Amino acid sequence: MRFSSQLKGLISFEFSLHSGYSRVMTTLDIKIYPDEVLRQKTELVTEFSKELHQFLDNMAETMYSANGVGLAAPQVGVLQRITVIDVSEEGNDLMEFINPQIIAREGKVPSEEGCLSIPDFRDKIFRAETVTVEAVNRHGEPFSVEADELLAICLQHEIDHLEGVLFIDHLTRLKKDMFKRKWKKRLLEAEASA
Ligand code: CO
Repeated sequence: MRFSSQLKGLISFEFSLHSGYSRVMTTLDIKIYPDEVLRQKTELVTEFSKELHQFLDNMAETMYSANGVGLAAPQVGVLQRITVIDVSEEGNDLMEFINPQIIAREGKVPSEEGCLSIPDFRDKIFRAETVTVEAVNRHGEPFSVEADELLAICLQHEIDHLEGVLFIDHLTRLKKDMFKRKWKKRLLEAEASA
């Protein structure tokens, strides 16, 4: 999910410069709509290995450098049930969710969203106002979160990704048609300038 402010990425970069972080991290390629991988379902994580930890670090790095507030594994071509989220203004509150499930939803709120896999497009949809999510951490230990506001929205957006669902799927038919026309035009323009 994409945050509207460009400032966040700058702050998080500063933070990582001064936080004494010494792990080597790689920025992964973000898959762009209509890449088929974004429509696949993901598998549960069963091994909590060093490789998983490295992958989580790389996902966080990728999210921060793209100024995102959330990133799901299919967006970097990995079909596993993993997402990272940081909705803090300062970009210093990284949350990792492995095998997340929404076990309760309440209320309904409008949400203007964007997605790192659908650049330069934002639109308003509706989401549950609060959600309860169960997941495990990078060591396989279970935890649960009761979320509201941006975290609740972001969890719904990212967990959708793990089911092959994109926020544009929640648009009304009319808005979906508008999006498709807009995207088609964008692809044609990209082709023409290539
Ligand atoms: Co997204």
